[in-house]
Amino acid sequence: MGRVALVTGGSRGIGAAIAIALKNAGYSVAASYAGNDEAAKSFTADTGIKTYKWDVADYEASKAGIAQVEADLGPVDVVVANAGITRDAPFHKMTPDQWKQVIDTNLTGVFNTVHPLWPGMRERKFGRVVVISSINGQKGQFGQVNYAATKAGDLGIVKSLAQEGARFGITANAICPGYIATEMVMAVPEKVRESIIAGIPTGRLGEPEEIARCVAFLVSDDAAFINGSTISANGGQFFV
Ligand code: CAA
Repeated sequence: MGRVALVTGGSRGIGAAIAIALKNAGYSVAASYAGNDEAAKSFTADTGIKTYKWDVADYEASKAGIAQVEADLGPVDVVVANAGITRDAPFHKMTPDQWKQVIDTNLTGVFNTVHPLWPGMRERKFGRVVVISSINGQKGQFGQVNYAATKAGDLGIVKSLAQEGARFGITANAICPGYIATEMVMAVPEKVRESIIAGIPTGRLGEPEEIARCVAFLVSDDAAFINGSTISANGGQFFV
């Protein structure tokens, strides 16, 4: 039987493409989601991938959800911390609540997702952690002080996990997608979105599958020597 992979936020957008790519690569996949029952139901019906509902911002809920996944599918060897939200506003208009929601979900959510799995990965001497960061964690973004802070934080998380996990056969890496054709990007006001696309040398938004293929490589045995890295997939919009 294939390895077990967990993708948070895995029923929609980039996460759904990742879950499908991993299933096609032979993994037993679980996809978590926070609230959209309808989308999760039709995702499972379309793909056969089991979905589990919990809020990654809640440590106890994450722990319980992961325990359920492991009871159903077996120990999780591959985790893709993908769940994320935006609450965009210029800094002078950003509320403490908008700050906190994004920090809790996008940053603390990564801790809550990986931490319960870490002891098992150490014990079994194998693990693959991939965190979906963002171009905006690398370059910052007008209107995203909260989001950019979390996505930059993701890079600190994987660089530290990489050092702690290496001797246990665990790798931790980040992917920084640029602007990808998902609901999240479609929610950006059209004029703003057009000007963003005009700034992408490739001349288009990315496709979720283009990120999913990066994940499939990073979690494979072939990528064992890639640890603590960041893959930028942004159509040439920003170079680190
Ligand atoms: N650079 C410089 N100035 C800007 C600007 C920019 N990028 N965007 C807006 N401004 C200016 C406006 O022109 C305006 O100037 P004036 O006051 O002189 O007219 C001022 O800032 C205020 O703008 P708004 O009135 O539009 O402010 P708002 O409160 O209505 O909303 C915003 C601003 C929410 C930031 C909106 O512009 C927006 O949604 N921007 C897109 C942010 C973005 O890229 N989000 C990414 C979402 S996708 C994602 O996050 C996935 C990923 O990882 C890539």
